[in-house]
Amino acid sequence: MIDRFQIRPATRDDARRLFDWRNDESTRNMSKSKSLIPWEDHLGWLDRRLKMDQPNLFVFEVDGQPVATFRIDGRDLSYTVAPEHRNRGVAKLMLNEVRSRFGSLRAHVYSDNVPSIKVAQSAGMDVVIVDE
Ligand SMILES: CC(C)(COP(=O)(O)OP(=O)(O)OC[C@H]1O[C@@H](n2cnc3c(N)ncnc32)[C@H](O)[C@@H]1OP(=O)(O)O)[C@@H](O)C(=O)NCCC(=O)NCCS
Repeated sequence: MIDRFQIRPATRDDARRLFDWRNDESTRNMSKSKSLIPWEDHLGWLDRRLKMDQPNLFVFEVDGQPVATFRIDGRDLSYTVAPEHRNRGVAKLMLNEVRSRFGSLRAHVYSDNVPSIKVAQSAGMDVVIVDE
């Protein structure tokens, strides 16, 4: 049971962990772009994002430990849980919290990504199922 969590804006100090989560194989398989992102490209992306007026890039922490990330682009929501923290209810808790703070957002999810479809639907997100 997770009871101490927080949402905070991502910073440049998160660069390495966001990179590792993004490049994890199971994350890439569920993303639009499946190739490994080079470190320099990732830093460029993060710097551009953090310079935006509203970066809308967040880190979700449990007991002070970063375990997941999400970002919001207009109405679109994307999220990733650190591979070693999956299947213990992190996404469920995070998306319920996102829903209560930001309202119902839209998540594009591949049809074979059953865990993601489940959590996004149960949090009341607008789930758009995508076929590869
Ligand atoms: C999808 C993802 C966010 C889920 O995070 P998580 O913290 O592991 O999810 P939770 O533990 O909160 O819940 C997962 C749910 O799926 C269920 N589940 C897990 N694996 C499953 C499987 N193979 N088949 C069916 N259900 C499954 C769990 O039982 C749970 O459902 P429940 O709440 O009814 O018990 C995480 O796996 C991830 O980051 N994946 C890679 C990136 C990604 O796919 N992002 C989403 C792109 S839209």
